[in-house]
Amino acid sequence: MVELDSIKTSVWPERVTIMDVGPRDGLQNEPYILPTEKKIRLIQGLVDAGIKWIEATSFVHPKAVPQMADAAEVVTGLPRRGDVRYFALIPNDKGYDRALQAGIKHLVLVLSATESMNQKNLNMSVAQSMAIAERLLARARGDDVMVRVDISVAFVCAYEGLTDPNQVIAQTNELLAIGAHQVCLADTTGRANPQQIAELFSALRRTHTADRLAAHFHNTFGMAVANTVAALQQGVMFFDSSIGGLGGCPYSPGSTGNTPTEDLVYLLDQMGVETGIALEKLCDVSDFIKTFSGKLPPSAFYRATRVKQAS
Ligand code: COA
Ligand code: ZN
Repeated sequence: MVELDSIKTSVWPERVTIMDVGPRDGLQNEPYILPTEKKIRLIQGLVDAGIKWIEATSFVHPKAVPQMADAAEVVTGLPRRGDVRYFALIPNDKGYDRALQAGIKHLVLVLSATESMNQKNLNMSVAQSMAIAERLLARARGDDVMVRVDISVAFVCAYEGLTDPNQVIAQTNELLAIGAHQVCLADTTGRANPQQIAELFSALRRTHTADRLAAHFHNTFGMAVANTVAALQQGVMFFDSSIGGLGGCPYSPGSTGNTPTEDLVYLLDQMGVETGIALEKLCDVSDFIKTFSGKLPPSAFYRATRVKQAS
């Protein structure tokens, strides 16, 4: 008789850390500007639900993403919790300076795997972004700041099609070698499939431990949970998701929200993987989002449990 339990634990991580990116990736693609106090209330709800990593805002050009113009005010209003890491996304030196000035100690530095996406999103070449990464990672060491680097369009680019996996592997290796604490591969367009996810993470896991890698999926084609399973099977332990499934990317046409946090937690709960997150409290946060978004959150778990079904 096969010991089912031993098979499961030899493949799946026992614990997963979730970064909720709703306050940044989620809100930046919404058509309304949410007042700062409501952003803080949203973040407070995530903290109350047990989320320990939160991408709270971004220090980018306010003309590029008007929703993030109040980044410094958001940071000032963050619930003070020693056990929660608040991350801010930055694209360049000016973002780094602004974030540190506001009091941020955890950064997400963003760059792309492809030239077209980097030009559209950041108005610079990939080589320029890599040079910025090298400079800022050196500064971060001196400033005692944690930096995760997100590689957007790591699987499929909206402008160039399939991304070359060897290029992403080389970029990840270099970023980790020059001091990134962690590299996150982002399926910005939501067009990746589980096989691509498995191949890329399997290749990276040959040389990097699980604490150095993270995954960020969008659910454009409903593949986010399937892609999560593929990554989990390669031992990935760090996942981004967005409360209620809020989100998208303004520079990646047609892409929709991230993996809904409720659906990710539900999956992990069902599989016996620990997250420390209370699902019902997550749904309370989605209830709050519904009050200002005017939309039903796309999360399947939310819809299945909080929306009255017609019989
Ligand atoms: N925050 C605020 N202002 C910034 C900034 C930042 N991080 N970086 C640059 N600026 C300002 C400069 O100070 C300069 O201001 P000035 O005209 O008053 O002197 C102006 O922007 C132009 O600077 P430049 O370096 O030439 O920037 P750019 O116009 O080429 O824009 C980015 C580059 C990266 C700042 C911009 O494309 C951007 O913010 N992109 C982020 C998009 C995003 O958030 N996408 C979703 C997340 S993945
Ligand atoms: Zn994203």
